[in-house]
Order: sequence, then C-alpha cells, then structure tokens
Amino acid sequence: MRIAIIGAGHVGLVSAACLSQFGFTVTCVDSQHRKVAALRTGEVPIHEPGLDRLLAANIDAGRLSFTADMAEAVPEADVAMLAVATPGREDGRADLSFVRQAARQLADALDGYTVLAIRSTVPVGTCREIAAIVRERRPDADFDIVSNPEFLREGAAISDFMHPDRVVVGVESARARAVMSALYRPLSPAESPILFTTPETAELAKYAANCFLATRVAFINEFADLCERLGADVRDLARAIGLDRRIGRHHLRPGPGFGGACLPKDAAALVRTARQPGAPSAVVEAVLHSNARRKAAMVGRIVDACGGSLAGKTVAVLGIAFKPATDTVRESPALAILPELMKRGAAIRAFDPAGMENARPLLDGVAWCRDAYDAATGADALLVLTEWNQFRALDLDRLRALLRTPLLLDLRNIYDPAQAAAAGLRHVGLGLPPQRLAVLHRVAVSQDAG
Ligand code: UDX
Repeated sequence: MRIAIIGAGHVGLVSAACLSQFGFTVTCVDSQHRKVAALRTGEVPIHEPGLDRLLAANIDAGRLSFTADMAEAVPEADVAMLAVATPGREDGRADLSFVRQAARQLADALDGYTVLAIRSTVPVGTCREIAAIVRERRPDADFDIVSNPEFLREGAAISDFMHPDRVVVGVESARARAVMSALYRPLSPAESPILFTTPETAELAKYAANCFLATRVAFINEFADLCERLGADVRDLARAIGLDRRIGRHHLRPGPGFGGACLPKDAAALVRTARQPGAPSAVVEAVLHSNARRKAAMVGRIVDACGGSLAGKTVAVLGIAFKPATDTVRESPALAILPELMKRGAAIRAFDPAGMENARPLLDGVAWCRDAYDAATGADALLVLTEWNQFRALDLDRLRALLRTPLLLDLRNIYDPAQAAAAGLRHVGLGLPPQRLAVLHRVAVSQDAG
C-alpha cells in the first residue's frame, strides 16, 4: 500500500514514521521546502522521543520519503492522509484554511481510486465540506473521504500510534472501509480495535475525548483545592477514585492547569460548535473558566508562600513546557504565570530541558539557566511547573544550600513534604494536608512498633 501524508507537523511526521514502520511506502508532503530538505537529511524539527530514529530507519529502508510537491506523492497513493494544522482562531473556532488549501492541491493530483483520510482535528461536518471541494474541482476523480482522528499525546506519540486503545474511522463506503482496515491491519485487533462509524461521529469523538480529558484535569485541580481546605490528601483521593475502573487512574494529577496545542484549543472550538446548533456545553465552558482561574490562582499561591510580596525576590522556575518530554510551550501555564510574577516585582531564573528556545521569544526578562541548580542559585523560591523526570531526583540538600530562602513550590507534587523537610526545605504542594507529616510519622511509628 502507498500512502501520502499531507503535512509534516507533529501528527503528520509521527503518522509517516509509524506507517512506514508498518512496511507501507510513505511519502510525506510539506509546503515548506526548507523543512522538506531538513527532513530528507534526517533532521527532525520537533521534540518527540524516538521519532528521529524511527524516521531515519525508514528513510534508510527506502520506505519513507519527503517532498514539497503533491504531484510526487498523491497520484500513486492508495491513501492520502490530511494532517495539516487547524489552529484555533481568536473566537475559538478552528481555522480550516490550511485544510481547504491542501484539499484543493490534493484534488488536482488525484489519479486512480484514493481514500482521503482527514487526520487533523476538524469541526463536525468538515469531511463532507472537503469532499464537496474535491468533487467540485475534480468531478472525474474516483475517491472517498474518511475521518480518521488521532489520539496521540505529545511525548508518547509513537507508543500511542503503535499501541492505540482504539482506532476511530468515520466512513460511508465499503470500499474505503476495506482500505482503512488494510491500513491498520498491522495493529493487534485485540489491543487496538477499529471502530467504524459515521464521519460526524468520528469528528466529534476527537473533541469529546479531549474535552473529557480536560474535564478530568480541571476536576482534580478543584478537588486539590478542596483537599487543602478539608485536610484531605489529593494523591490518596485520586487513587481512591481512580481504582474504580469506571473512572480509571489517568489524568487525575493536580497541577497549575492544562495547556498544550490541543486540550485548550479543542475545548474552545467545541464550545463554539455546541452553541451553534443550540446544544451548548455548560460543562466544557465551566472547564475552560476553571482552568483560566487556576493559572491566576497559582500566582496568588506563589505570592502568599513568599510572604505576601515578590518585590525584590528571585523565583527559580523548573519547567516551562506544558508537560514533560516535549518542547511545546503553547498554552503552557508558565506563559501565564511568569509574566504575572514579574509584574509583581519578581526576578525569574528558569530552566527547561527542551522548551527554552520556544519560550525565549515569549517571555521577556527571564534569565535562562543551564540546569536546575543554576536556576536555584540565590533564589528565594524554587517553583516546579513541569514534572520532567529529571526534576524528580534533584539533590535537595544541594538545592537547600543554593537557595537564599528554603522554599519549594511544587505545583506538580513531585516531592513529598517529608523529603523536602528532611533537607530543610519548606514544601508547598497541591492538595496536601498540613498534617501529612503526622500521618507519615504515625505510619512510621506503627511500622516500628511492628
Ligand atoms: C492530549 C490528549 O491526551 C491526546 O489524546 C490528544 O491527541 C492531544 O491532546 P497532549 O496535549 O499531549 O495530549 O497532553 P496530555 O498528556 O493530555 O496533557 C494535557 C495537559 O493536561 C498538560 O498541560 C498536562 O500537564 C495536563 N495534565 C495532564 C494534568 O495537569 N494532569 C494530568 O493528570 C494529566
């Protein structure tokens, strides 16, 4: 089977790498000539663990190539996968200009029966709109269009592609269904069932999934606040509900708010989509408001922990990317929190293993540091915003010696207060009871008592 992937962004490149790894012949098309030239040399413009090796292996095997010319990729293709960007507009709606433009160029290059699979996250009804654009431009073309949304997480995208919980395909023709079945045949049917449904359902499923994930994060963030006021422990609470298999344990870790290129954008787009036909989603609207409030509330928490004022204080920030294992800073809580800290007089020293280049033009006045210890040097507080694994094993005694004030603001709960206290650090986490130490002590005593 020959596949054309249109768009060499995060989704397009991961899809191209994995589908060529399945053994298919894949040509990835991107309009940016410079990007195509770099990709041909194996240079990967995004930070996705393992992607560079997977791309290189399949380029070497002759299964994967790159071009800027649709005519080099589409005529031979059995499947043409649209994976171009659908950025969020100011009013929250998805910008479909890139999808429409790619559809027109793709239409001109069609030759022989081709399945057009829309992989980008698009509003419900887009498949039918794109089919109309192609049909109007090429009444002679023999094609079907399907919706094939992706559920890839940044930082785990290859694993999510190779071992998806499910594949969703919105399709109306038996012929196209057979092609899509063949495309995903390399996946284990037991591990990754393929759900065939209508295009509208597949398009909406992507938004529903991301809105539900965003709801879980907003939910646990609110319950973390409640835990603090009621003396409960959000970590035990998350386990207590997450062990219920109807709830599940994922996306129940409190933090400074959800960010990234998807959850905020897709939730905002869904809110717009739902209002139009008169079925507004009060839940998703509330989730977006809750998340915006969360980032602002974190600023207040930081100011309070620093004695009520940041004037003349230095805050060391660990983590700018919206989550670990990525260089993406889009909608990262750091982009909202750091300017507010500086407005209140704080000097910021920051380190992130991958996101600093992307963040630098967006955060004026930040001192960018070599590592966590460099950032902590002389600071009045150490603020953890992203739970990079390398931040989980820091030498707390060394940090204590470097900090001017022994304050650890751990907004990802990567440390236990007892650990921090043992190193002489005051730990401020999320959703932790003040008496957490007492509980630990009681447990320790009972263990000693045998
Ligand atoms: C998400 C969806 O998970 C994925 O299926 C979809 O295809 C794209 O959008 P991603 O944006 O990579 O993937 O991030 P995700 O891992 O879902 O995290 C989203 C945000 O929620 C991040 O800011 C993260 O820090 C936050 N989060 C996530 C929490 O605060 N707590 C959690 O327990 C999980």
